[in-house]
Amino acid sequence: MGIIKRMPSSLADQIAAGEVVERPAAVVKELIENAIDAGASHVSVVTEQGGQKLISVTDNGSGMGGDDLALAFERHATSKIETSKDLAAIKTLGFRGEALPSIASVAKVWARSATGDDQGHEISVEGSKTDGVKPAPPVKGTTVQVKTLFYNTPARRKFLKAPRTEHQHIIEVVRRFALCYPDIAFELTSNGKELFRLPPADLSDRIGAVFGRHYRSSILPLSLSKEAFTIAGFVGNLSLVRGRPKEQYIFLNGRAVQDRLLNSAVYGAYRSLIGRGEFPFFVINITMPHEEVDVNVHPAKSEVRFRDEWRVYHVLKLAVTEAIRDIPGMLPSFDPLPGASSYRGQLEPANGGLAAAIAADTRPIFEPAPGPAGGDAGAQPLPKRSIGDQLEMARPLGDLPERSTAPYNPERIWQVHNKYIFSQVATGIVIIDQHVAHERVLYEAALQAFNGDALPSQTVLFPQVLELPPDDYFRLIDLIPALERLGFRLREFGKDTVIVEGVPTDVAWGREREIITDVIDRTDRRIEGAELFEKMAAAYSCKAAVKAGDPLTLEEMRNVVDRLFATENPYYCPHGRPTVVHMSSTELDRRFERI
Ligand SMILES: Nc1ncnc2c1ncn2[C@@H]1O[C@H](COP(=O)(O)OP(=O)(O)OP(=O)(O)O)[C@@H](O)[C@H]1O
Ligand SMILES: [Mg+2]
Repeated sequence: MGIIKRMPSSLADQIAAGEVVERPAAVVKELIENAIDAGASHVSVVTEQGGQKLISVTDNGSGMGGDDLALAFERHATSKIETSKDLAAIKTLGFRGEALPSIASVAKVWARSATGDDQGHEISVEGSKTDGVKPAPPVKGTTVQVKTLFYNTPARRKFLKAPRTEHQHIIEVVRRFALCYPDIAFELTSNGKELFRLPPADLSDRIGAVFGRHYRSSILPLSLSKEAFTIAGFVGNLSLVRGRPKEQYIFLNGRAVQDRLLNSAVYGAYRSLIGRGEFPFFVINITMPHEEVDVNVHPAKSEVRFRDEWRVYHVLKLAVTEAIRDIPGMLPSFDPLPGASSYRGQLEPANGGLAAAIAADTRPIFEPAPGPAGGDAGAQPLPKRSIGDQLEMARPLGDLPERSTAPYNPERIWQVHNKYIFSQVATGIVIIDQHVAHERVLYEAALQAFNGDALPSQTVLFPQVLELPPDDYFRLIDLIPALERLGFRLREFGKDTVIVEGVPTDVAWGREREIITDVIDRTDRRIEGAELFEKMAAAYSCKAAVKAGDPLTLEEMRNVVDRLFATENPYYCPHGRPTVVHMSSTELDRRFERI
């Protein structure tokens, strides 16, 4: 007798369900898709225990009659396509007739539906078995309740993450639909707590409602029609750039898609504005003929295939480039604002008299000396040097005298290009990168604060209200004790909102949002203990440090340099970049051919 046997259909269903219903958030996604396909203008999602105990989705869409309600739970039963011709131009989110039967094979499902013309019906399905439909109240629309997901598939249940993680995935799914369909009202309630209540809105207001009001004023509209493509939506300015790829949304014909090429088109447009490891915010809708794209390539329908993907790439990149064209001119000006920062304004600006005098002193040195033929001698190359020579010239200062006493001459200190601090030391000159130097200072101070006494806090004049996306909010709540050690004072203030009442004395007012979001972004919830502190200290110090471009007063320069040389490891920033470059008097003399 052969060894191959036909599987019972319940087993085949469960295997197939594995592809569609990977985790609770996938159930939420399928049910919302069905609601949208049914023309709903209001979708309400309720979950308990990260969706593992309950997922309930209610819509006010077209509803189903009794026969349809029973058929909806049968495999390959769909109202959305009929022929293979339809498959070539899919206009609905669903088309496989797979979602409901798959969900019902791995959970206990109850559904109620009514078309509005007739009485309502309800049905219970457990492990693909049902007693058929029963009458129910005639409330137009549909509710599907999914209980004890994966109760009969222990293998799948084992791989579920903690309810909190699954909950975050669900929030993300609802957020995605909310952004793609701003004209539909969405509600999300989890464990009895209302997380979203979003009335119909235009996209910019919806972005504000989902991410927090300040997003509303930090986005630039995108609008381009070219050939058969229309690109619309919003891209963020530089204040919304984040340290982790998280807030990037591309919707294609009303469907969220994950496509590396399309994302890279957007990043490409931002290339000269942001650094590596930084991600701009965007919500972009692409509309194109349905025949130009195949959505039937992935079980979760999240990947698509284009007939001509490079064309889409170029049109998208062009649209984003146009939208962000004015960003460079919108960069904050580097002029010091009196009192704008706690770090500024204590002494007269360094680039006043002293700096001017230095400039006058040094100018002749940089004027091109006349060449042998009186020609363009300024372009004369310097004699070639070996790499060893060059390294020697740029070597970080290795053997400074005592740490506690400043090794430099505090009278002879200048800021150059608002980026570097030059100073005279006994053996020559040092050049200090102001940002990385300050970063090192703050990094060590933060680590000490985690291991010993908390850092002092200054009360802010105007407490900042931080409204955060729900998942960031939960993360922040976890991090508050550690942030308080750094000198932040934070108070929970109702739904997804905290008030920043105090900031570390080293932090300029107004930077708190940026610092806190970066700390959230760069600290994964899986890490803890020393590793978490180290990551928090690195994120905090990088964002809180003065930037290249910030003018510093004499006092501020001295403060940074003094504190730098009092650190454990003054010569490298937490990321390993040198903070100090030393050029010896001997090297200078050699270069000027004095010796
Ligand atoms: N909320 C709803 N309102 C009205 N009809 C619905 C709803 N949910 C499901 N249906 C009906 O049930 C059918 C089966 O739904 P199901 O999600 O299983 O498949 P589908 O949406 O057609 O395709 P896919 O598997 O790609 O989601 C749908 O085609 C639709 O006719
Ligand atoms: Mg469906």
